[in-house]
Amino acid sequence: MPQEIPKDNGNGHKDQHPGITQGASGEMTVEHVHKGYGLKPLVKVVLGDCNFVLENRKLTVLIGPSGCGKSTLVNILAGYDMPDSGKVTLDGVPVKGPGRDRLVVFQETALFPWMTTYQNVSFGPRVRNELSKEELRVETTRLLKLVGLEAFADKYPSQLSGGMMRRAELVRALINRPKVMLMDEPFRGLDAMTRALMQEYYVRLFETKPGTNLFVTSEIEEAIFLADRLVIMSNRPATIRKVLEIDLPRPRQFQMLTSKEYLGYKGEALEILHEEAMKAFARGKTSSADFVEAYSKIAGK
Ligand SMILES: Nc1ncnc2c1ncn2[C@@H]1O[C@H](COP(=O)(O)OP(=O)(O)O)[C@@H](O)[C@H]1O
Ligand SMILES: [Mg+2]
Repeated sequence: MPQEIPKDNGNGHKDQHPGITQGASGEMTVEHVHKGYGLKPLVKVVLGDCNFVLENRKLTVLIGPSGCGKSTLVNILAGYDMPDSGKVTLDGVPVKGPGRDRLVVFQETALFPWMTTYQNVSFGPRVRNELSKEELRVETTRLLKLVGLEAFADKYPSQLSGGMMRRAELVRALINRPKVMLMDEPFRGLDAMTRALMQEYYVRLFETKPGTNLFVTSEIEEAIFLADRLVIMSNRPATIRKVLEIDLPRPRQFQMLTSKEYLGYKGEALEILHEEAMKAFARGKTSSADFVEAYSKIAGK
């Protein structure tokens, strides 16, 4: 089912965050994107007809069942892959390949083992020779402080915990100030406590300097906690089932996860995800059985 692309482009907002480059909007649009893998007649259609907008100063979260095509979409937005038909644009210009204006953080993103935390984090601007040594020191230190790693600046990755490494990876990406940050399930596989911590660090980083962010997850609580806008995908062939504007105040606090508003959004999103899981199950996808069970429990069905 094609979804209408929201018209509001968010540029009417008052700038409360000096330091953001004006005029560098970083808005991305996905218009009628189709994508399949394989050769005719055995093409596996992954993306049916996807339409949505990534706005500047908004944290957009993409959620959908495992295997529905989230990473496929991220790869297309990043320019690593091209759609079969449809269009992806950045500030009105069609995306033809990867570019420095977009940065992707994956679950597998890794630090250079031979560099200290400081060297890893400052790597991008250092190799591009963009900042003076002093500017680089100030910015690297500021970011390390923000994610609680200043005392670990001289440590090597092997001396850090898993959560510390993720935090370092996060600021190593952010220091490059990409117009668009694309995060593909970056916290998957972390234990619950570390994950909650990472969500908090990430949301604070976004709130301090909001840019165009796309965060992909299959966790509903994480999705609503982070999102300004929640884009819910259907099963394969994936379309956008619904776009929910999450109107919870910022800065986000974990206490909000018990508020009436939060529970309302969660109920609405779960309804759709549950429907999608049931459809997949009815089509004989046994892999969706666990998903149906898990979501039924949370949704209280
Ligand atoms: N390069 C590829 N070649 C063939 N099939 C692929 C390729 N990449 C992904 N797929 C298939 O496309 C579907 C969507 O994958 P993916 O985008 O990784 O889903 P998600 O990130 O939502 O879990 C899966 O069924 C996967 O097996
Ligand atoms: Mg994926």
